[in-house]
Order: sequence, then structure tokens, then C-alpha cells
Amino acid sequence: MDAEIIEDLTALADATRSRMLVLLERHELTVGELCAVLQLPQSTVSRHLKTLLDAGWVSSRRDGTSRYYALAIDDRGEQGRRLWTLLRDQVRATRGADQDARRLKTVLKTRQTKSQQFFETAATQWDRLRQDLYGRASHLQAVPALLDPNWTVGDLGCGTGELSATLAPFVARVIAVDRSGDMLEAAQRRLRELSNVQVRRGELESLPIEDDTLDAATLVLVLHHLPDPAAVIRETARVLKRGGRVLIADMLPHDREEYRQQMGHVWLGFSDDQIRRFCASAGFKDVRVVSLPADHDAKGPALFVASAINGE
Ligand SMILES: C[S@@+](CC[C@H](N)C(=O)[O-])C[C@H]1O[C@@H](n2cnc3c(N)ncnc32)[C@H](O)[C@@H]1O
Repeated sequence: MDAEIIEDLTALADATRSRMLVLLERHELTVGELCAVLQLPQSTVSRHLKTLLDAGWVSSRRDGTSRYYALAIDDRGEQGRRLWTLLRDQVRATRGADQDARRLKTVLKTRQTKSQQFFETAATQWDRLRQDLYGRASHLQAVPALLDPNWTVGDLGCGTGELSATLAPFVARVIAVDRSGDMLEAAQRRLRELSNVQVRRGELESLPIEDDTLDAATLVLVLHHLPDPAAVIRETARVLKRGGRVLIADMLPHDREEYRQQMGHVWLGFSDDQIRRFCASAGFKDVRVVSLPADHDAKGPALFVASAINGE
């Protein structure tokens, strides 16, 4: 047997290295950029890069103070190229690769921003100045002012009540529901100054809310904990008025199996189709599902937000 193919198989037989090569096939990236996309420490990325460099699968070039790495496919023989095509098609179909592709967009955008900074110093300075003066999320904190001030909103699975606190100044009433005593205690502490918030203990499967009460309901980072999300979305429809809106924010499909043990996740994210099916079967219409841009500093999977109107 040809010894070269054994060496190639040894270099490629690692999930991280194969994900790295999928990224490096399309873009030259620095170690720092690979760390950000793969969410791995620099030592791990450098170790895998060295293996790939030594095996001739990756080339590098210096540009000023940066070093860029790329897949060296043109240097591989016919056999190596066939092996790569087979592996690449398998890796690209995984959820991990899908998450990498989303984070890559953010990383490449940052690179673009850096070059713009050079030419548009004033504009860049303003963004930083606004963040320094008013905080990173100041523009988003103002957005709930678009809500109807007469609304009653349900924050379903409210946790420690951060979203309820954000919404309360802009609407007539917030009903915050959760099953966990500890979470509710923290929510009570956070929300005690806000007289239009009612904190209620209860199950999302049988909400402590009358029929046709809410103008809007939020299920933020909650659905992945539920054995039967479709049933909870049906229950949400019951407590919403006709024409009321539901907002669901959760994770896109991902491969973090460890979240099941660490945080009791039942679902490893949701696809666009799943969310549309859940909403449609509960009688919601005008379903919109939008992937959210990955935050540069975030360590978790990318998120989506869905909204729909209660047709019942
Ligand atoms: C990950 S936390 C998210 C909290 C909050 N929405 C946020 O975004 O910060 C999920 C919350 O859902 C609550 N929860 C999970 N399953 C529930 C159920 N079946 N009924 C009521 N609350 C539930 C948990 O107690 C927890 O507070």
C-alpha cells in the first residue's frame, strides 16, 4: 500500500483539523481568526495547524505583522485531492461546520471593518465613543419604545427577569412566568421597583394565565429545555389574544452534546422548518424566522428569532 495515503489519513483523521481545512479552503485566515471561528484556544489551534503544516496540507504566508494560512490543495497529488473531496463533503454537511460558516462571516466582517477604520477614522471613532459613553447595547435598549404602550406582555420562562425589566417601562403590564423557585427569587429582586410586572410561578405547559389575556408573549432561550415545545406553543396561543404575537428566540441547530448534561438541554437547537411546523400546528400565521448575526464575543451557538401572529 502507498505510504502517502496513510500519512494523509493520519493528518486528516481529526474532527477539528478537518473543520479547519474546510475553512482554509475558501479563505486565508490567521491563527486568531481560526480561534474565533472554531471557539478554541490558541494553543489548540496552533497544535493542529502544525500537524497540517508538517503534513503539507496547509501553507502559510506572512503579510506585514500577520501570518495567513490556507489549504495547500494544489500541492496534493491526485489521490490526496480525491480524499479531500470526500472528506470535505461529509464535514460540510455537519452542524459544527454550519456554525463555523456563520461565525466566519462575522470574523470576515471584522476584518473588513478594520480596513474601513483606516479610511473612515471619524465614523469608527463614533461607534467606540458611543459604546464608551452609553454602553454596548444602548441602541437596542431604545427599540422596545416601538411596542404598543397598552400591551400586556407575557415573559414565559422569564428566568431572572432581565427581559421583563427591559420591556416593563414601555408596556402596560408584564406577566413573568417561571417554574424555578431560585430563578423567580432573583426575578422578584430585579423587578421589585417595577409596579407593572407580576411574577407568577407555573409551568409553561399549563400557564397560570387566563385565556385571551396577552397581546404578546416571549419564549426566549426556553424552548430547548422543553420535552414537548409544540405543546407549549399551543398553550401560548391559548393565553394570547387573537392577533397577538409570539416571539421565540433560541439556538440554531448545533453539535454541543455536552449541553444536555451541563444545562439539561433537551434539544440541540431548532431548524427553521421545525419552528414553522410548531407555530403552524398551534394556529399561528405569518411566521418569520431570522438568523441573528453571531456576536464576536459569544461562546455559544448562533441564535435565531422567530415571530408569528395568533390566528385562533
Ligand atoms: C435558559 S433560562 C432562560 C431565561 C430567560 N428567558 C432568559 O433569556 O434569560 C430557561 C428558563 O426556563 C424555565 N423553564 C424551563 N422549563 C420550564 C417549564 N416547563 N415551565 C416553566 N419554566 C420553565 C427555567 O426555570 C429557566 O428559568
